[in-house]
Amino acid sequence: MKESNPATEPIGHNLVNLISNRCFAVFAFSVLIFTVIAITYQPPDPWLESAPAMTKLFTQRENATFKNDISILRTGEDFLPVDNATATPAVAPALPNPTTDVLMEKSEVFFTNSTPKLGCDDFERVNCSDPRALLAVKKFNLRVFKSIVFLEYQTPVNGSKPDECDVSWRFRNKKENSWRKYRDFRRFKFGFDENCSYKVVHASGWHSGINARRSRGRGGNATRGVGPARVAPPIRDEEINDTIPSLGSEMNFRKGRYLYYSRGGDYCKGMNHYMWSFLCGLGEAMYLNRTFVMDLSICLSATYNPTANKDEEGKDFRYYFDFEHLKEVASIVEEGEFLRDWRKWDRGHKRKVPVRKVVSYKTTPMQLKKDRNAILWRQFDAPEPENYWYRVCEGQAAKYIQRPWHALWKSKRLMNIVTEISGKMDWDFDAVHVVRGEKAQNKELWPHLDYDTSPDMLLQKLKGMIQPWRNLYVATNEPFYNYFDKLRSQYKVHLLDDYKELWGSTSEWYNETKLLNDGRAVEFDGYMRVAVDTEVLYRAKKRVETFYNLTKDCKDGINTC
Ligand SMILES: *[C@@H]1O[C@H](CO)[C@@H](O)[C@H](O)[C@H]1NC(C)=O
Ligand SMILES: *[C@@H]1O[C@H](CO)[C@@H](O)[C@H](O)[C@H]1NC(C)=O
Ligand SMILES: *[C@@H]1O[C@H](CO)[C@@H](O)[C@H](O)[C@H]1NC(C)=O
Ligand SMILES: *[C@@H]1O[C@H](CO)[C@@H](O)[C@H](O)[C@H]1NC(C)=O
Ligand SMILES: *[C@@H]1O[C@H](CO)[C@@H](O)[C@H](O)[C@H]1NC(C)=O
Ligand SMILES: *[C@@H]1O[C@H](CO)[C@@H](O)[C@H](O)[C@H]1NC(C)=O
Ligand SMILES: *[C@@H]1O[C@H](CO)[C@@H](O)[C@H](O)[C@H]1NC(C)=O
Ligand SMILES: *[C@@H]1O[C@H](CO)[C@@H](O)[C@H](O)[C@H]1NC(C)=O
Ligand SMILES: *[C@@H]1O[C@H](CO)[C@@H](O)[C@H](O)[C@H]1NC(C)=O
Ligand SMILES: *[C@@H]1O[C@H](CO)[C@@H](O)[C@H](O)[C@H]1NC(C)=O
Repeated sequence: MKESNPATEPIGHNLVNLISNRCFAVFAFSVLIFTVIAITYQPPDPWLESAPAMTKLFTQRENATFKNDISILRTGEDFLPVDNATATPAVAPALPNPTTDVLMEKSEVFFTNSTPKLGCDDFERVNCSDPRALLAVKKFNLRVFKSIVFLEYQTPVNGSKPDECDVSWRFRNKKENSWRKYRDFRRFKFGFDENCSYKVVHASGWHSGINARRSRGRGGNATRGVGPARVAPPIRDEEINDTIPSLGSEMNFRKGRYLYYSRGGDYCKGMNHYMWSFLCGLGEAMYLNRTFVMDLSICLSATYNPTANKDEEGKDFRYYFDFEHLKEVASIVEEGEFLRDWRKWDRGHKRKVPVRKVVSYKTTPMQLKKDRNAILWRQFDAPEPENYWYRVCEGQAAKYIQRPWHALWKSKRLMNIVTEISGKMDWDFDAVHVVRGEKAQNKELWPHLDYDTSPDMLLQKLKGMIQPWRNLYVATNEPFYNYFDKLRSQYKVHLLDDYKELWGSTSEWYNETKLLNDGRAVEFDGYMRVAVDTEVLYRAKKRVETFYNLTKDCKDGINTC
């Protein structure tokens, strides 16, 4: 209890504050540990490492009261077992089952066994529409890109030379536990093996097969599940549809049952707090079988922006999370649409929409189960921490409400950047996570961290763990770009900022986020950086962590491990 606040508040209040903070801390910490274990089966070292101020939230964790919650967290994008991610349509039935890779292997057997050999007489050119050319590409990809699940190839088209073809396909990364698909198109150079069948002798890099990128929907073989064929600009991820749904007619509005949470004390808190609270509200709505009224406007805590150190309002939910997925798996309505329709109805009709205002979180979801009012409006006007949304899900309610983690995925637009970075390295890279920032400066809690992550020590330690001249991705919260220059004598060093063009003013990300922001440019902020950095880290073949691998200091400060 020694870290509790000065006694300016009544003791009971203070205690509640402390306990709730602790519980949240314990919970969030457990989630992170669990996430990492689930993904990698390696010792945990989650994102918060890279977001220094966030760690404050998690540093006091003595009580394990939230441990039980881990069991209900096993559903989200990151919590799915990897094996299951390919198969289960249970969570997002809207997407087709990717079974193509299995089919592909079968068809290979079929072709190699029963098709006559090619003549080796025409060495100079390859017939790109010959199925055997595609087959050679499939074989090559399977052999070379082991971390990728290949889906839905399109018929190859001519490359720039007679012995080249450009091929486009969609894929999943085995290390990403959602079944979202990404697109790649590459240029392949062909030769013949001793049996005179096609063989890939060279494949060019990520997105090199530019002749194939436009070919979707042409040649009569548009893939299933892509949606209506649209004329898309090059490379744009035309699959993202995160438009705000409207309720349509007034009658539709009136027929609905809503759960509406006013903004509470959660506003401008850290992102983990946001998720924990948001999913409580959404979980209650699901429990009550109501549509959740959702504020898409997020306030990004100053902790993600140490330089300006200012909370930033007006961030769109869709910058960070996958709204399309959310729309598919949960019943939600955007707050602005909802309020507009509500006012319109009340103006136009004698009988107003019946509303029940719920002033305290102490009114439990179970007590509201029978309520027939069209709108349940939870208001969070009490002083902190009584005004946190997640308080609704505490106590007895925790037994009834399950947070729908499966509904919350990371933004596909951010994941496109992750995919692009790892794809540009052909998924053939190792990574080191270098935690510095506040922790490195705090010699009391982390006495050796600064020294152990100094350029010379880094190089010395990495030499023992990573082969020279490998691609080495450095995920870090160290702001000084040239800090890692020493590593360049041994490795091909990659840093997030090397990929600036992926969110720069000529990028797809820039264009698309701008559209979400009424035509104003969106900053690639601290939280996005951490999200992308971390996801790239997870895709590495070999991963070196700061704690456990680089330093003997404990992750949470002295004497915590
Ligand atoms: C820790 O948990 C126990 C029961 O699990 C509880 O009695 C105690 O008050 C908790 N302590 C704090 C500081 O939350
Ligand atoms: C997939 O998940 C289900 C539960 O959702 C589990 O019973 C099953 O064993 C899992 N399968 C694999 C291959 O992990
Ligand atoms: C290329 O292969 C396709 C499919 O096997 C075939 O229809 C076509 O005639 C071939 N073209 C040439 C020039 O051989
Ligand atoms: C591809 O190249 C071959 C010859 O190299 C040519 O006959 C064929 O018309 C080309 N196909 C397209 C779609 O340009
Ligand atoms: C060539 O054919 C022989 C006999 O069918 C087979 O054993 C061999 O593996 C083939 N070579 C290649 C490179 O496919
Ligand atoms: C499209 O591709 C599938 C296999 O992926 C094939 O069965 C089908 O015949 C093709 N359709 C056309 C019109 O080429
Ligand atoms: C996007 O999704 C909404 C439903 O959420 C649908 O009404 C709309 O037609 C879709 N837009 C496109 C371009 O597919
Ligand atoms: C949930 O609500 C919908 C429509 O509001 C209704 O059709 C459905 O039967 C309800 N389900 C339960 C379990 O109450
Ligand atoms: C972004 O938008 C501009 C103008 O709308 C367009 O010229 C450019 O090609 C777009 N860039 C990408 C990568 O989509
Ligand atoms: C990092 O440390 C862990 C635990 O000691 C170990 O299992 C892992 O192999 C180490 N990683 C590397 C790349 O050496």
